[in-house]
Amino acid sequence: MAVDVYRNEPFMDFTQPDIREKMLSALKKVEAELGREYPLVIGGEKITTADKSTSINPSNKDQVIGVVSKADQDLAEQAMQSALATFEWWQDVEPKERARILLKAAAIMRRRKYEFSAWLVYEAGKNWAEADADTAEAIDFMEFYAREMVRLSEDQNLTRIAGEDNELVYLPLGVGIVIPPWNFPLAIMVGMTTAAIVAGNTVVLKPATPTPVIAAKFVELLEEAGLPGGVVNFCNGSGSVIGDYLVDHPKTRFISFTGSKEVGIRIYERAAKVQKGQIWLKRVVAEMGGKDALVVDKGVNALEAAQAIVTSAFGFSGQKCSAASRAIVHAEIYDEVVNHVAELTRKLTVGPSHIEGVNLGPVVDESAYNSILKYIEIGKGEGRLLAGGGKAEGNGFFIQPTVIADVDRNARIAQEEIFGPVLAIIKAEDFDDALAIANGTEFGLTGGVFSNDRFNLKKAREKFHVGNLYFNRKITGALVGVQPFGGFNMSGTDSKAGGYDYLLQFTQAKCVVERF
Ligand code: SER
Repeated sequence: MAVDVYRNEPFMDFTQPDIREKMLSALKKVEAELGREYPLVIGGEKITTADKSTSINPSNKDQVIGVVSKADQDLAEQAMQSALATFEWWQDVEPKERARILLKAAAIMRRRKYEFSAWLVYEAGKNWAEADADTAEAIDFMEFYAREMVRLSEDQNLTRIAGEDNELVYLPLGVGIVIPPWNFPLAIMVGMTTAAIVAGNTVVLKPATPTPVIAAKFVELLEEAGLPGGVVNFCNGSGSVIGDYLVDHPKTRFISFTGSKEVGIRIYERAAKVQKGQIWLKRVVAEMGGKDALVVDKGVNALEAAQAIVTSAFGFSGQKCSAASRAIVHAEIYDEVVNHVAELTRKLTVGPSHIEGVNLGPVVDESAYNSILKYIEIGKGEGRLLAGGGKAEGNGFFIQPTVIADVDRNARIAQEEIFGPVLAIIKAEDFDDALAIANGTEFGLTGGVFSNDRFNLKKAREKFHVGNLYFNRKITGALVGVQPFGGFNMSGTDSKAGGYDYLLQFTQAKCVVERF
C-alpha cells in the first residue's frame, strides 16, 4: 500500500467564486433531499421501524432534515449480536485491508466534500466555514487512523535478547459502543467509529439525537467504500432506551463516548459494574466538557487578544468543548481588552446558517436553547452585560453572542459548562492569579495564553493544567496529527483524538516469546 505522508485536508476559501458556486449548488442539492427516511443498518440489513425520530433544521424549526428509524432494546440486541458475529472474522482481516477501506471512504468523502458540508449546515446549524472544517477533519481522521493502523501492525520495537524471538502485536478488543456528539456530528463521529473498526473491532453506532441524518449518510458511504455489513451497526435510538442497555451489556467490551460530563459520568459508572457472564472490565474512552479559558497577560496587543477570544468563544455559537467560555485578563490591560471584545462581538451576525457569511448560526435544539438562555439570565446577575443578552430573531434557535464582564471566578457562569455563545470575563490581579483562576474549575480541556513574557509562557507551559494549551492564538480547531486533542480531569479519560496513541485504546497488546 503506497500512501503519501499524512497531510491535513485544506480548508475551502469561499471567497473564490468557483468554490462558492460549488457550495451553493451542494446546498441546493441537499435541500432537495431533505425530509427523506433513513433505516437502521444492522448486519448490513436495512431495517425500517414504526418508531422514528425526526431531525429538524435548527435554523428553521419547520424544516425536516430527515426521519430516522429508531431501535428498541430488541433491535439493540440484534445489533450487538451482529457485531459479535462479525467480530469473529473481522478481527482477522489484515490491518492493511481494513486501512484501505478507510482510505477509500476518505476519497469518497473528499469527492463529496461540499455535499457533506451542506448536510452539516442544515442538520447541525454550522455556518459554511465551520461545516467545511468539520468535513475536512472527518477526512483527516480516516487518513490518519488508516496510516496509524498500518504502523501498529508492523514489527514493534522490542529489545533483543539471545536465544529468543519476542514479538508484540496489537489485538482488537471486541464489540464497542460508539456514542458520538452532535457538535462535530461528522468529524468526531467518523473519528470515533473508524478508529475502533480499523483496529479490528466491530461497533454499534448510536448517533447523537439531534444529528442522526449525517451519521446515516456516513454509514451509506462506508457501504459504498466496501465495508462489510456488521462491522458498523447503525442503531439510532434514545439514551434511556438503548444507550444504557448497550452500555450495560455483558458482551460490550468498550464504550467510546464524546459528550457532556453528566452523560460521561453516567456511562463510566454503569460500565464499571461487572454484569453476569461478563469476562472483562469494560474500557471507557470519554471526551467530555470544558470550561476553557484564554488568559491575557499585560503588555500584549489588546485587539489581537480580543480577536482570538471572540473567535474562540463564538465559533459555532460556542458549542465546542474547546470553546473559550472564560477570558481571564490582567488588571493592567483589562479595560482595553474588554472594550475590544464587546465591540467585536457586537459586529457578529446571527442568522440561518445556509446564508453565506453568517457568523453565528443557531444553537442545536430547544433544550440547548432554553438552557443557554437560562444561563444568560443567571449571568446578568453575576456580572456586567456588555453584548448580547438573549434570544435573536428568526424561526430557529438563535441566541445573541453574549459577553458578561466583571464576573467572579467562582460565579456559576465562570464554573459551569454552558455550551453556547456566552463569554464570562474575569479580572486577574497578576499573571499568577490569572493561572490560578484558569486552573480553578473541575475541567482541563483547552486553554490559551496571550503573553510576550517568556517567563510567564514557561510558567503556563508547566502549570496551566489542560490537555491542549495554545499560546498567542485561538484555542479551538485542533488539527488531526498536528495537535492531538483531549483533556484532563472532568474533561474525560485523557485520550488524544488525532494523536499517535489514540488507536492503542481500542487494542490490547499481546507479547509472544519463542525460545530458540
Ligand atoms: N477538536 C475540536 C477543537 O479543537 C473540538 O472538539 O476545536
